[in-house]
Amino acid sequence: MSKRLTFADREIDRTLFDADHIHRRILELGAAISRDYEGREIHIVAVLKGSIMVVADLIRAITVPVSVDFIAISSYGPEARQSGSVRLLKDLDESIEGRHVLVVEDVIDTGLTLSYILRTLRARRPASLEIATLLDKPAHRLIDLPIRYVGFTIPDCFVVGYGLDYQQRYRNLPFLATLRGDVLA
Ligand code: PRP
Repeated sequence: MSKRLTFADREIDRTLFDADHIHRRILELGAAISRDYEGREIHIVAVLKGSIMVVADLIRAITVPVSVDFIAISSYGPEARQSGSVRLLKDLDESIEGRHVLVVEDVIDTGLTLSYILRTLRARRPASLEIATLLDKPAHRLIDLPIRYVGFTIPDCFVVGYGLDYQQRYRNLPFLATLRGDVLA
C-alpha cells in the first residue's frame, strides 16, 4: 500500500476507508442482498465508470444467481443534469423487462444521475428496481431516492480510489481517500 501511495501522496489528504474495511462492508452488503433476493435472480446494472470496483467485488459476495450489464451516461455538471440534458453514452446490452434489476453505483451525490437512470429503466418495465451504492453523500441531494443498500454514508468531501476518480486518475487505488483541498481549489 505504501508504494501505491508514493505516486498519490502529494494530492491525497487522508484514507477514508482502507481496503479491508471496504471488503468487510461489501461482504455484509452481499449477504443482505443474497437474503433479500433468495429464490430470485438478480440482474445488476452497473453505472460506468465509477462502479467498476464495487460491482466486481459485490457480485462475488452475492450467492443467488446474478447477471450483469453496464450503462454509461454523460458526466455534465449538476446544472446541465438538472435541466435534463443527461445523455446516454452506453445503453444496456440486454432487455430488463420482467427482471429483478439492482442498479449499482459508486456514489450518489445530488441524485440527478441516478434519477435519470431510474426514469429510463422504469420505462422498460423491470419486475423490480432497487438501488445499491457504495457511498451515499447526502449533503447536496437534490432528488430524494429510495436507496435500498448503502455501503457508507459520508460527509461532503471529494473522494477518490476504489473506482472513483479525480480527472480520471486514482480509480486504481485499493482504498477510498479524500483529496487535499488545495488540489481542488
Ligand atoms: C459519479 C457517480 C455517479 C454520479 C453521482 O459519476 O458515479 O454516477 O457521479 O453524482 P450525482 O448524484 O450528483 O448525479 P461521474 O460523473 O463522476 O462519472 P464516472 O462514474 O465515470 O467517474
